[in-house]
Amino acid sequence: MNVLNLTQMLEFSQKGDERGHLVIVEGMQDIPFDIKRIFYIYGSDKDVVRGQHANKISEFVLINVAGTSKVRVKDGKGNETVFSLNRPHTGIYLPKMIWKEMYDFSEDSVLLCIANTHYDPDEYIRDYDEYLKIVNEAGEEK
Ligand code: TYD
Repeated sequence: MNVLNLTQMLEFSQKGDERGHLVIVEGMQDIPFDIKRIFYIYGSDKDVVRGQHANKISEFVLINVAGTSKVRVKDGKGNETVFSLNRPHTGIYLPKMIWKEMYDFSEDSVLLCIANTHYDPDEYIRDYDEYLKIVNEAGEEK
């Protein structure tokens, strides 16, 4: 299975009433993994590109709980897709071993990131050439 096919937008349940909105994201229910870590990114300028890495083990769900951003994903085999994160009740699921870049942050962007792992810098691939080498040597079927 190609990693781009595993990448998908998710829509979460909303429990809005006259008091406002409430969005629910439960591990193994609304997203396809148990949650080990959350972090969030804000205050990134419009011209900043974040991410620029792939993860050997980590899977992520990214949600712009405020503002907007874009996520470019690449499979290292010449295919890429851009997703817009622009609603607080939608997110993107990113499987392991996909190259990702987050960019075009709005001034009010707060990008919530949910992961299935604790942080381990050793499972990050931050060099694109190394990523290309790994995915193209893996002999994975297309
Ligand atoms: P980095 O992975 O470069 O952020 P992004 O992918 O959003 O561009 O992380 C920035 C710094 O924060 C880097 O020094 C590693 C550290 N960090 C942690 O310590 N724990 C974490 O869970 C994350 C995501 C980053």
